[in-house]
Amino acid sequence: MEVKLLDLRAQYETIKDEINNAVISTIESGNYILGPEVKKLEKDIADYCGVKNAIGVASGTDALLLTLRAYGIGEGDEVITTPFTFFASAETVSMLGAKPVFADIDKDTYCIDANKIEEKITEKTKAIIPVHIFGQPCDMDKIMEIAKRHNLIVIEDACQAIGSEYKGKRAGSMGNAGCFSFFPTKNLGGYGDGGMVVTNDDEIADEIRLLRVHGMRPKYHHLVLGYNSRLDEIQAAILNVKLKYLDGWNNKRAENAEIYNELLKGTKCKTPFKADYAKHIYHLYIIQHEKRDELISYLKENGVATGIYYPIPLHLQKAYESLGYKEGDFPIAEHASKRTLAIPFYPEIDRKTQEYVADLIKKFDLKNC
Ligand SMILES: Cc1ncc(COP(=O)(O)O)c(C=O)c1O
Repeated sequence: MEVKLLDLRAQYETIKDEINNAVISTIESGNYILGPEVKKLEKDIADYCGVKNAIGVASGTDALLLTLRAYGIGEGDEVITTPFTFFASAETVSMLGAKPVFADIDKDTYCIDANKIEEKITEKTKAIIPVHIFGQPCDMDKIMEIAKRHNLIVIEDACQAIGSEYKGKRAGSMGNAGCFSFFPTKNLGGYGDGGMVVTNDDEIADEIRLLRVHGMRPKYHHLVLGYNSRLDEIQAAILNVKLKYLDGWNNKRAENAEIYNELLKGTKCKTPFKADYAKHIYHLYIIQHEKRDELISYLKENGVATGIYYPIPLHLQKAYESLGYKEGDFPIAEHASKRTLAIPFYPEIDRKTQEYVADLIKKFDLKNC
């Protein structure tokens, strides 16, 4: 049996007519950039998150970049974030000439450990980027309290976490701003790139709207150097169809996670931890295994795809050699990088497939442990 890590077509099949109609209507409208579909999505995502402003941009990476830039982060500044994330969480800091400073993660949630942030703060620190990794929010009360005491900006990297909640508050709505990605594999994914910033800060929202169109206001009058970073109408039309299904899909992910949790009981896997404060949306189903690489090979031999998120923590990436970190600096992130894997998981996965994967893991344990 062949089992994919993720099956985007399975979801498309369930909403095919609606999606096709939305795409064709947009093409026929003749409106392709920053038109009514983007406006509607911005309003609906702002309402969904309970914030005043949402600004569509070209990707989650640009959402982070434009937000950091709007807050004036640049040369000489430091921004504290996690080493256990997708590269863009730190890359965007570096792209503006600022320095990412890492703090280790919590061994259970894989999010930045809020208790390790304060020791990293210097007079150069301007912001914290907590990353709600794999769809589980960071401990935001602690992070916001530290930020308040040290007068720091908090930009939530909620690229993997749209719809997740911390004590009833939506991811992205708690910091000064929150950033989402609509990369196709995300829980709310387009059929191409896309991103969005949400914020209650009207001034910052206005600045991001300016930055996404070359700093232009009015037409062909450029107030600042900006970017071409617009969410296009076709992606917005697709996302407008999908947004109304998001909660249902997220709930299905949570149900499927419960099924795996049950099926994997008694194996040598550490299944995902859900913090008491969290509504977890399981962007990925991440397990830990001491024989991770052998398990991956065994599953592959039996037709089951897996993924590693992430094999090299950011402080050990070649691109960050110049930051001067070394192996051993963030032991928990390094431990996770060597032992975690994602197994096949998406809202439409059926129980039979989950049983097949879990049975293989049990067989592997019997042979190897
Ligand atoms: C945690 C995190 N941050 C940032 C990004 C960047 O988003 P995008 O791929 O839309 O640029 C991603 C997505 O890949 C992500 O997972």
